[in-house]
Amino acid sequence: MKKTGDLRNMKFHIRTFGCQMNVNDSERIAGILTSEGAKPSTSLEKSDLIIINTCAVRKKSEEKLYSYLGRLASIKKRKNVTVGVVGCVAQLYKSEILERKPFVDFIIGPDNYSALSEIVRSNREEKIISTSWSQIFQDFPFEQIFRESRVSAYVTIMEGCNNFCSYCIVPYTRGREKFRPMKAILQEVRDLARKGYKEIQLLGQNVNSYCDPESGKSFSILLEEVDQVDGIEWIRFITSHPKNFSRDIAETMAGSDKVCRQLHLPIQSGSSSVLKRMNRGYSREEYLEIIRMLRRLMPDISLSTDIIVGYPGETEKEFQETLSVLDDVRFTNIFSFHYSPRPQTAASNQKDSVLFDEKKKRLIQVQTLQKNIQVEFNTSLIGKTMKVLCLGRSKKDPQVSSGRNQGYQVVNFQASEDFTGRFVNVHITSCGPYSLIGEAV
Ligand code: SAH
Ligand code: SF4
Ligand code: F3S
Repeated sequence: MKKTGDLRNMKFHIRTFGCQMNVNDSERIAGILTSEGAKPSTSLEKSDLIIINTCAVRKKSEEKLYSYLGRLASIKKRKNVTVGVVGCVAQLYKSEILERKPFVDFIIGPDNYSALSEIVRSNREEKIISTSWSQIFQDFPFEQIFRESRVSAYVTIMEGCNNFCSYCIVPYTRGREKFRPMKAILQEVRDLARKGYKEIQLLGQNVNSYCDPESGKSFSILLEEVDQVDGIEWIRFITSHPKNFSRDIAETMAGSDKVCRQLHLPIQSGSSSVLKRMNRGYSREEYLEIIRMLRRLMPDISLSTDIIVGYPGETEKEFQETLSVLDDVRFTNIFSFHYSPRPQTAASNQKDSVLFDEKKKRLIQVQTLQKNIQVEFNTSLIGKTMKVLCLGRSKKDPQVSSGRNQGYQVVNFQASEDFTGRFVNVHITSCGPYSLIGEAV
């Protein structure tokens, strides 16, 4: 380990892979470092400390760490830079990372970021591995968080997962469910409102199972409380699990002017037999029933989902059921992946029986169908005027700004003024499959 002693004047760079929670964790890490006087840097060459916040959800995500470390190896030869690996791969593989890449200086798992400044400051020569589990939510001073956006903020409300879907590694990287006290969440949201944030996104691996450790209050009560905070105008949350998505939550959404008419509800597969093998805890019909309930309460709700193709033993017929669910629900957006066996998971004991070429073929079929659905839907929005939260101006062309509508679609629009942080009415003039294009009116 490089002897740093003091963090003042130190330049750091954080590379983040993975989900929104990792993005929020990196903002926390940046906050810890900047509060000690260190400065963020966009240049790897000029940095004294490089931290890689990693994701292990698929084999490909894990490999991103090693290709990035490959790039760092040459920098490390030229100058004395401290390199830390944090996040889900760190938690999972610990010292194995050091065996593969001996130049790495420290390994920190997601529950141990509060130890970071101590670790960076320490004058010890030996490598440091800090990956202990925590039974309770590890809170942090929210005032410190060094956020990327001045408009929309992530607020973590829980961490971990008790669901053990057969394919998923997250329960082994984030541990069991740990809930952040509601008081602390509300303090953070009020602080964000004071700072001028317009939108917040409540984060957790399974937000619907939220239960305040102090009062036992549920997720829908948390939504009602956040709804009361003046200044915050849009509220979103991710990720919801169909198994825990109660009518209560849908009614709270429908009864609030601030909770966006938008929901990400991962289905994974349209086949009840595959869902059973995945240990998801709901059938195709039960999922569709939730969708019907949501649309009865909020006819204009925008829905998105996650899909896995090629789960062990997935037959052509079972796969067709996934295609038909996409056709039935007509999601605004989806995230689709081919199955990737993960260590320690139940599914990894089964033969990864769907051949790679077949998985690829199925993934293309899913993505082609969905693309057509999106083109059709987005085309139907041409000529409409919609409210957009402007997130910033394009770096390439200052006449173009970018934001999101209530349905969480990307909207790029012409505007002579800088609307960043404000709501704008945008008249939609054209579209692609993944975004809308328009003009501020
Ligand atoms: N907690 C969330 C998301 C977890 S990971 C949930 O329950 O939905 C994000 C997505 O990655 C999952 O929804 C799933 O679609 C995908 N995923 C997880 N493990 C995977 C694996 N082994 N192979 C392929 N995709 C996977
Ligand atoms: Fe993984 Fe399932 Fe938990 Fe989501 S609900 S994090 S897919 S185990
Ligand atoms: Fe990846 Fe960990 Fe998030 S495995 S998806 S970074 S919880």
